[in-house]
Amino acid sequence: MSHADDHAGTRRDFLYYATGGAGAVVAGAAIWPMVNQMNPSADVRAMSTMRVDISGVEPGTQLRVLFLGKPVFIRRRTESEIAQSREVDLSDLPDQVARNANAEGADASDANRTLDEAGEWLVMTGVCTHLGCVPIDNAGDFVGPDGSGGWFCPCHGSHYDTAGRIRRGPAPQNLPIPTASFVDDSTILLG
Ligand code: FES
Repeated sequence: MSHADDHAGTRRDFLYYATGGAGAVVAGAAIWPMVNQMNPSADVRAMSTMRVDISGVEPGTQLRVLFLGKPVFIRRRTESEIAQSREVDLSDLPDQVARNANAEGADASDANRTLDEAGEWLVMTGVCTHLGCVPIDNAGDFVGPDGSGGWFCPCHGSHYDTAGRIRRGPAPQNLPIPTASFVDDSTILLG
């Protein structure tokens, strides 16, 4: 290779790197606003949580609230709803995963689905995991022994038990449990 060729090669390399460098800067400039937009503002973060007053919820009833565009059921279960769900063998469940954002990877035993240890409070997104209808409460083939609890989705016949677990019908998964926690005895925080 002559000295001239060598020099040309160096120039080409320089042009290549210079162009690449400029490209990287342009790409970086384009990506930053997108990343910045993905950082939620305080307003958006506030909108992604919700405090719910549960002080008026009697055993055997549920609150239905709209959270992030979806219905959320907040149910206070009766003793018999809890007992019925707790005696179910895991092997009888079509979906053996808790589907609980507060207990990732846990199995679908009743204790892994409820917000409190006693199992009184069950918080679930009320959207059927088949095609997204809103299931009806106190209905279906898995209502508790006192006629309370259980959900039925009439769209295509999915039956959920008193822990919101799919037991019969085309829905593939248990009703999902969103991130939730107790703020105090009478308030639940969603999100
Ligand atoms: Fe619920 Fe199809 S949407 S069973």
